[in-house]
Amino acid sequence: MQKDDLLRLIHDPNLLPSDEQILISRIAGQAATMDMPCYVVGGFVRDLLLGKPVNDLDVIVEGDAIKFGRSLVKKFGGKLTTHDKFHTAIWHLPSTVLGQRLQPASLDLITARKESYLMPGALPTVTPSTIEDDLLRRDFTINCMAIRIDGAHFGELLDPLGGQADLEKGMIRVLHPRSFIDDPTRIFRAIRYEGRCDFNIEPETLALINSESLDGVMRLSGERIRHELDLIFEEANSSKMIQRAGNLGLFEKIHTDLPLFNPEYLDFLDMDPTLDIPASRPAIGYMFWLMDLMEDGIMSIAERLSFTSDLTYSVWAVSQLKKSLPFLINSRPSVWSYALEKLPLLSIYVVYLASRESALLDYLSIWRHVKPHTTGNDLKARGLPSGPRFGEILAQLRAAWLDGQVKNPQEEKELLNTLL
Ligand code: CTP
Repeated sequence: MQKDDLLRLIHDPNLLPSDEQILISRIAGQAATMDMPCYVVGGFVRDLLLGKPVNDLDVIVEGDAIKFGRSLVKKFGGKLTTHDKFHTAIWHLPSTVLGQRLQPASLDLITARKESYLMPGALPTVTPSTIEDDLLRRDFTINCMAIRIDGAHFGELLDPLGGQADLEKGMIRVLHPRSFIDDPTRIFRAIRYEGRCDFNIEPETLALINSESLDGVMRLSGERIRHELDLIFEEANSSKMIQRAGNLGLFEKIHTDLPLFNPEYLDFLDMDPTLDIPASRPAIGYMFWLMDLMEDGIMSIAERLSFTSDLTYSVWAVSQLKKSLPFLINSRPSVWSYALEKLPLLSIYVVYLASRESALLDYLSIWRHVKPHTTGNDLKARGLPSGPRFGEILAQLRAAWLDGQVKNPQEEKELLNTLL
């Protein structure tokens, strides 16, 4: 790509908000005064060349990123968090830079580095190096491009590994045959980029997803695997990715009981979970994935994937509710409500989606909000001594409303008289 075309993309406010353009030019100016080659890299360059709005802004310098960060703070304000071991810093931006309000709130500043893996799957050892080495340590050619931004170099594209050509061909290609063995999370990442951009994993790269690299998945920690699965569920196209991951044999390496995703539920993964109940796409994903398993299987997978206790409970609740539906069907609203009221709302909603049992939707939209007019204070005022009867009477009044035995406050009062 010509420098002019790249500059046009960088200056397109639909791809890069003007806030970030200003921020980049300030950083570029500072890098130039320090004679420090400075680049934006990775997803930023990939998305820009694809004509997509960019999300992440990662800045790499050939030199000391911590020293560079300190100079930015001195000139523009804000704060710096440093990670000496990794030669990186996070610049917590001031609310304005030279009078301009800026997004994002913080920025990663990274020293160009070389990485070596002492053990497959372990985190790599890091030593400062050149931008070329930094690009060589990465996952796929499409992520191995950089744009230089300091001074007169602003807008020079570095593409030593043919990333642009692979973007045009729609190919996900690793840089070397040991890539997935060094870092098995890259298998998940390949699947994610393939599904997100409607690309293909290049045939030789695909062949590297074999028993040796898949065994590496087996050794990954639960947290790392779940992070990758969460990222997949967060994607708009996650149903395609989760199917692909299953077909490539990833799931049995994560846990022997982890099933393929039931195709009947795939469409639910891509829906927009805008509800009046708190929902996260990954939580919905795990609920559909595991709902038809037995309790033991769910618990064991939850442990392997380091689920939080809330997530484990929500997934368990889905499976229990689904199994008890046959016993609840045709029950009175008060019986449904009693069975549902301790369960997470999202679990109930997921079982509704899977079963289309209308009582579940009635509960979520109407029944759970039904309350008697009588309060505990009213019962006290009528001389009821404190004790479990309070709760029982209020529950009976509520059940009467739910089941239509009471339709107005007068009828509630009459029922209350019979209960006291
Ligand atoms: N990277 C890598 N191997 C990994 C994780 C990350 O090589 N296991 C590299 C890639 O070059 C990637 C960069 O680190 O571009 C930043 O990682 P991340 O923020 O996860 O990816 P993005 O490219 O920003 O992609 P996304 O849009 O998915 O966030």
